[in-house]
Parts: sequence; structure tokens; C-alpha cells
Amino acid sequence: MINLNSKYRETLEAIVKQIPFEPEICLILGSGLGDFAEKVETVKSISTSSLPNYPVSTVQGHHGYLHFSNYLGKKLLIVQGRIHFYEGYSLSQCVLPVHIASKLNCKKIILTNAAGGVNPYFKPGDLMLASSLNGINIKTELTELIGLASLTQKNALLDFPSKEMNETIKAAALEEKIPLQEGVYWLTKGPSYETPAEVKMVRKFGGDAVGMSTVHEAIYASSIGLKAASISCITNYAAGLSDKRLSHTEVMETAELVKNNFERLVKKTIELL
Ligand code: HPA
Repeated sequence: MINLNSKYRETLEAIVKQIPFEPEICLILGSGLGDFAEKVETVKSISTSSLPNYPVSTVQGHHGYLHFSNYLGKKLLIVQGRIHFYEGYSLSQCVLPVHIASKLNCKKIILTNAAGGVNPYFKPGDLMLASSLNGINIKTELTELIGLASLTQKNALLDFPSKEMNETIKAAALEEKIPLQEGVYWLTKGPSYETPAEVKMVRKFGGDAVGMSTVHEAIYASSIGLKAASISCITNYAAGLSDKRLSHTEVMETAELVKNNFERLVKKTIELL
């Protein structure tokens, strides 16, 4: 098991020197959802490229910043620039933002992502709250992250999602009159999108949406006591479910269209949390 405390001591020291406050809620922004950071009051932004040992995000639409922000008096840590497994990073690198949030005493985390819709009732532009996760593809790597003892004894995988967080997100959707789907987020490692055959398998096994992030962040967050939830923006029909050829451009374009609903949902959630 990798000790993140020693691996990222310098990174954390550099952050602690600059923070204006300890955040209450952390928000990790998914593909195409990065604009949210500009919709709340930013108190301090730290460029992740200025931090020792911080991995560089290479994905279009993922700028690397830690924003310390304020919304209706709530202190936020907004992570812009997710670190993905498919970029060649280890899981211990991918969960660094979660580790930082926890070390700054943050207690709640909202993970957001773009995902392909597998459930036939989902359409691009829908928002989906994760009722559960499928991390079967990374079970072995999770041991490196959390440690065998925790995985087998504490069963960290069962602590996600936080009931309180999910109930709050549903209440926020209701108040804002935003339709909210609910379902299982299934991680595929990427970097390529799934084949139609893989999507069929995911559906048969109960997956509702596929994406390349979030699961390890959610499991790590839950295992260290953070209350976590995940909101997916369904940016496309998963491969084989439409005639359209899947592309990152389509993902970004749909995320752009759904941005307004996403922002209202997250803002109302923060208000109610
Ligand atoms: N598959 C995997 N990841 C994704 C997709 C998809 O269809 N859409 C957005 N992220």
C-alpha cells in the first residue's frame, strides 16, 4: 500500500502555505464542466503546475487549478483538471485531489463526470446521480491504494454513496425542477471508448452509464471517511446505441448544453448541504 502522506508531503505543505480557509465541500469537475469554477466567488486559485509532485492533466478541457471559493457562505475546494488513469497515472496519483481535500479537513465531496448513457431510457443531456459504482476493472489497483486490510475488513466499497449526500442532491433537483436520473456508474479504464460489445455487457450486468473516472476517487474518499456522491452528465449514447461516431468533441458539446442545469443543481446542493 502506498502511503500518500509521505508521497505528497511537499505538495500538501505548498498548498497549506497558500490556503485562505479550510474547505467544507470539495467539488471535482468533470470533462466540459470546468466552467462551474467561474460561477462562484473565487477567493484563491492555485495552479497545480506550481505544486511539487502534482501530476499534469493532459486532457482537453481539464485545466489544472485548485480553487478556494465561496458560495452562500459555504467554503469550497473546486478541483479543475482531473487526473485520469488512462493518462498513464497510477491510482494513487489520480486520487491526489481527494487526499488533499481530506488533509484540509474537508468532510464532503461531490464528484462530477461526463459519461456515456447505457440505460436505454437515458439520453444525452441527462444528469445521473450514482446509486452505486462498478469498479470491477480496478479491484487489484485499489489494493495498492487502500490496502488489503481496509478493502477486506472495512469494506470501503460499500460506504459509497453517502445517503445524506444523495438525498440532498435529489432534494436540490426537485427544488430546481431538474430531471435527475439515478443509476450505476461503471468504470472502464479507457483511453478509448468502449466497443458496442462491451457496452452490451455493461448493460447486461446492470450498468447505466460508462465513464473513465470517479470510481477510485469515490472509493478512496469513502474509505477515509469523506461523505461522497457522484453526478454524471450523460454526454452521449454509449457506443453501439446510436449511429453517431463517438468523439471527445461530442462529449464537450453536450456538456456545454447541459451546463446550466448542472450549475443550478450543484449550487442548490451546496446551499442545502
Ligand atoms: N464512455 C466512456 N467515457 C465517457 C463516455 C463514454 O461513452 N462519454 C463520456 N465519457
